[in-house]
Amino acid sequence: MKSALGCVFSALAASVSSSSLHALRQTPPQLDYNLLPRAACDNTNKSRNCWGNYSIDTNYYDETPDTGVTREYWLSVEEGDCAPDGYARQCQTINGTVPGPTIFADWGDSLIIHVTNNLKSNGTGIHWHGLRQSGSNIYDGVPGITQCAIAIGQSMTYRFKVSQYGSTWYHSHFSLQYANGVFGGMIFNGPATANYDEDLGHLFLSDWSHVDVFTRWFAARNGQPPALESGLINGTNKFDCSNSSTDPNCTGRGVKLTTVVEKGKKYRLRLVNAAVDGVFQFSIDKHKLKVIAADLVPIKPYSTSSLKLTEGQRYDIIFHANQAVDNYWVRAGWLNACQPNVNPDSITSVLRYNASSTLDPTSVSDVTVSSDCLDEPLASLVPHLKMDVTNIQKSFDTYLNISTTNYVHWTINTSSLLIDWNNPTLKQVFNGESLFPTDYNVLAINKTTTDNEWIVLVIQDQSNLGLEHPIHLHGHDFWILDQSTGTFDAATSPQSFKTKNPPRRDVAALPGNGYLAIAFMPDNPGAWLCHCHIAWHASEGLSLEFLEREADIQADVSDSDRTQFNDICQTWSDNVGTQAFPQEDSGI
Ligand code: C2O
Repeated sequence: MKSALGCVFSALAASVSSSSLHALRQTPPQLDYNLLPRAACDNTNKSRNCWGNYSIDTNYYDETPDTGVTREYWLSVEEGDCAPDGYARQCQTINGTVPGPTIFADWGDSLIIHVTNNLKSNGTGIHWHGLRQSGSNIYDGVPGITQCAIAIGQSMTYRFKVSQYGSTWYHSHFSLQYANGVFGGMIFNGPATANYDEDLGHLFLSDWSHVDVFTRWFAARNGQPPALESGLINGTNKFDCSNSSTDPNCTGRGVKLTTVVEKGKKYRLRLVNAAVDGVFQFSIDKHKLKVIAADLVPIKPYSTSSLKLTEGQRYDIIFHANQAVDNYWVRAGWLNACQPNVNPDSITSVLRYNASSTLDPTSVSDVTVSSDCLDEPLASLVPHLKMDVTNIQKSFDTYLNISTTNYVHWTINTSSLLIDWNNPTLKQVFNGESLFPTDYNVLAINKTTTDNEWIVLVIQDQSNLGLEHPIHLHGHDFWILDQSTGTFDAATSPQSFKTKNPPRRDVAALPGNGYLAIAFMPDNPGAWLCHCHIAWHASEGLSLEFLEREADIQADVSDSDRTQFNDICQTWSDNVGTQAFPQEDSGI
């Protein structure tokens, strides 16, 4: 390659004859980047740690490339007939598919995303899960917190900078809407902690109801959530209709996802647990998984034969197609002990080394089924970019409990979240209000020093039900100080906090009857939700909200941001009587 390109360059330097130009046009040279003006390092399949003048070692909390590129996307939230597993029902979708289109960008790009509500009877709002939204809290997409619900027929434009890289997803944050299909992937290209040849994109693992989830809510909220009938991988599966021959909705025409690989290559997959309520123990028969990122945090690669994901979590993995040329099951690995599903073992897809094979795999799993519903061991999740928790300024010690007045409500410090789609926290901030409704569950955070400082949140489960809860914080990655099955003691428990480069991410499990202690820096003014990512539990109010540096919030909001914010609220309130869907849950 080098010598061929050397030729091209000397030909260009001398006066070029028409025949050599002709030759040049016919066979474009394979550019050898060693000979071109180049960035500090190139991201290739042999150097995934490189990223131009940046790399896997860059502190991405402080530094973001400025690519100067703006990417624009149009998302329509709509509804219609669907049968993702071969069972016909009504779905709510983005642009007509489950999952919706993947949003691609490079680290350092800007995104402009137009969201239009084309539904018949719901408001909407799209949340970009895991994005810190530094300086753009107003585009976090939570109706009742950072915006009013987008009314039917209305569009809202979200604008933010891509200051992280890796894999995440977007989903509706309007009640249970994402559980009806309103979600999709986001891929932000950047460096990685291990090499691979090809990127296979997302693998969404989800449970799937054969009945609209809003209909199911009225039963779900009375206690034990329902066992859903099915599950999907990337929005598809084959539901077995042999026992439902009299049910006209059961078409039997579902198909399993098929992924074709070439022996010898290494593949990256971006796993997402997009379940309403369920924990997965993912595996690919006979293949080891190398885990390279937990949520949007690159980690020291580790190898495992299976990987547990609680709701909302992502893992980036690499697998080596180094087994015999054959077909293998890819298993979502539904953990039935965490939440029952009617068809727990059917949530699978097919990995083929030979594209022309049409046979079902006969492979068997050698994974030992996990006996708990918790995260991967904390010791496995070591962030590549090391950061310690050093200067704890404040600890919020909170208590999770349950109340059964009317229906199941989860409470934090005795209050269950209940927001109003027409009165988001940010509207109250813009109006200069300093007292917030009790059921907005607001905890105020201020920064007390000019140094790096940390805020700690401890959630102690006092409900005595023994259920795990995947706790998700908006606007931040958090440092996991402790995840314990014991009882938190404010005097002694902090002594066992892990503060030296603990795992960092944006969803972590609160162990049943135990506590979760997380830390984050008050470096991002805004109203940030912190909630359980089990959709039923969020609807049952399992959430609090941090109001971080209230006095600094408005400085990030431009006039046009404000105008749009007001328009969205005005349209919602003008139409609330004629088209709104009655709020029957917490709103998130
Ligand atoms: Cu996945 Cu509050 O979000």
